[in-house]
Amino acid sequence: MKRMIVVMGTLLLGAGAVMAQQEIAVKQDNLMRSQAKSMYGVILKMTKGEIPYDQKAVDNAIASLEADVGKIAKTFEVNPKQDVVDATYGSSPKVWQNKADFDSKIPPVQKAIADVKGKIKDVASLKAAYTSINDRCSDCHETYRLKLK
Ligand code: HEC
Repeated sequence: MKRMIVVMGTLLLGAGAVMAQQEIAVKQDNLMRSQAKSMYGVILKMTKGEIPYDQKAVDNAIASLEADVGKIAKTFEVNPKQDVVDATYGSSPKVWQNKADFDSKIPPVQKAIADVKGKIKDVASLKAAYTSINDRCSDCHETYRLKLK
């Protein structure tokens, strides 16, 4: 039985290695882009009056953000050792040299989201929420995100 589990594990690892490196990088990038959709595509635009304040859209954006942020640690587990083709941003090699520190940047984002969840009622409170969350996103980007072009 024990042997069987080891064999299964090895097979799974093998399958993971075959998964194209580019696919891993794209998956990581897509997670960040999904967060950006909530943060910049919905919340920031509303704070600027580019789209009208919409409570349901705010609540959905916060819920989606919360779900996405919870996936960062796992999604960035493997180093794809390449950037997404034509991407503006890439991951610093430091992410995988110091994965524990990278992961430690996630709970503060989750806390910032939890602190405002259900409390945003108007543009003013949305603005405050945007800043408090975005500052924590930046804390990770500062060290671990590279501008490629
Ligand atoms: C724990 C670290 C970490 C946190 C927290 C984090 N990011 Fe990122 N982010 C990265 C890394 C690394 C990259 C570069 C690699 C990539 O694009 O996948 C990145 C890239 C991005 C990009 C550029 C995507 C592109 O290529 O166009 C956006 C936009 C982004 N993040 C938004 C956010 C937002 C919004 C938050 C907060 C809700 C956030 N990130 C939180 C690590 C983080």
